[in-house]
Amino acid sequence: LGGARLIIVANREPYIHRYREGEIDWIRPAGGLTTALDPVMQACGGVWVAHGSGEADREVCDEAGRVGVPPDDPRYTLRRVWLSREQEEGYYYGFANSCLWPLCHEVFCRPLFDPQHWQTYRQVNELFAAAVLEEAQDGPALIFVQDYHFALLPRLLKEARPDLAIAHFWHIPWPNVDKFLVCPWAREILDGLLGNDLLGFHTQHDCNNFLECVDRTLECRWNRETFSITRGGHETQVRPFPISVDTDLPRRYLGSTWESRAARLRKKFRLGQRPLLVGVDRLDYTKGIPERLLALDRLLGKHPQLRGTFHFLQVGAPSRTHLPAYRDLTEEVQELADRINWEHGTPSWQPVVLLQEHLGPEEITLLYRMAAGCVVSSLHDGMNLVAKEFVATREDERGVLVLSRFTGAARELTDAVLVNPFDVEELAQGLYQALTMPVEEQERRMRRLRTQVLEHNIYRWAGQLLSALGKMAPEPLPVA
Ligand code: G6P
Repeated sequence: LGGARLIIVANREPYIHRYREGEIDWIRPAGGLTTALDPVMQACGGVWVAHGSGEADREVCDEAGRVGVPPDDPRYTLRRVWLSREQEEGYYYGFANSCLWPLCHEVFCRPLFDPQHWQTYRQVNELFAAAVLEEAQDGPALIFVQDYHFALLPRLLKEARPDLAIAHFWHIPWPNVDKFLVCPWAREILDGLLGNDLLGFHTQHDCNNFLECVDRTLECRWNRETFSITRGGHETQVRPFPISVDTDLPRRYLGSTWESRAARLRKKFRLGQRPLLVGVDRLDYTKGIPERLLALDRLLGKHPQLRGTFHFLQVGAPSRTHLPAYRDLTEEVQELADRINWEHGTPSWQPVVLLQEHLGPEEITLLYRMAAGCVVSSLHDGMNLVAKEFVATREDERGVLVLSRFTGAARELTDAVLVNPFDVEELAQGLYQALTMPVEEQERRMRRLRTQVLEHNIYRWAGQLLSALGKMAPEPLPVA
């Protein structure tokens, strides 16, 4: 990093403090962003600026909202920004998750365009800009902004401190130009993002969509050879950086005790020795969880001989439950699971085990290791890191990945069983393949999947992105 300070900005904090039985403890939140970036920060050091969302967050911080993390072995600083309920409502639940999330995932529901939410979103971007500028006041800094919560932040930072090197990674898809331009504030969002020196997406397809939006909307020069945009004398490079995972999961979370932990888990959920298919998601309407259950229903209807022979274990971490769309989904998933268990189950066997709870990385890695197959059926997903985590865990080279074609991961993980989750027959066939694939074929596919994931881990992703940023920094960065 050439002696410059690394400052990450992400809405979600990597550690959340809460009260448990009169004591303060902490958890890691669900979701790909924090899982991917925490190991990078642990390796590089620096500051992570985020919304302080835990009930006990303030208790452990200094006056400026700073605390060392990981809490049990601090390696970098978490700087928490405090939001009022109204700000959280308008910026996070409102503009970020009721407008930009469905808009960018091209979900077949209407994004909510509420001027009040937009005002609050702008206000919170300004609040974060102030916190970042304070953290960067002592000299050169690389600012690494995360995701759709902060589209306006790069422009605000660049105007205040043209010497800062600013990169931004957009963790969700960028939609097609005709879809995006229905947003009443499309121009402001695009202009805000062009405050970056470097803007990264998961795929070239996302980059092209973004560049077309800019070209259609703003006064600028698009260099089609270098994929850069010049606006008002400032250049922004737009490039794909497919994100990945920490591939050291088995060593970190399985250890030598995993088999006894697996046996306990089998007993707890009455799984016997039956093969497991697993799904691990936040309960989000982009993840295709109802589609997955309907395919399971179809599978059991079509192949009744499979009854009693396996379980489908779905972990659904509650997410954004303040929003009706998420509450409706939670209900729908529960109802579907109950119906399928009622129709196909027996007194001693239930096909679906649904865990609507938040599990830590130890338990999730254990499930990946135990599974005969992992099912990712997102309707549209920027990357999907569950797919890569599953592969990273399978040192034994067994297990089948059933993967939606509409994930960024499907472009790299071409040895998975690729499916269209909107096609119930094809998804049911994918599940069937996962349960019946010969061991030699599992190994052949898994070896190739592992080569892909192990060669492109999260450290390489961060290294490539930050060194690209270092090279285009406005002022040459002093060498450490
Ligand atoms: C996705 C988003 C992240 C977000 C995560 C969890 O991966 O791209 O920005 O952190 O979901 O969602 P949450 O709203 O709980 O942070």
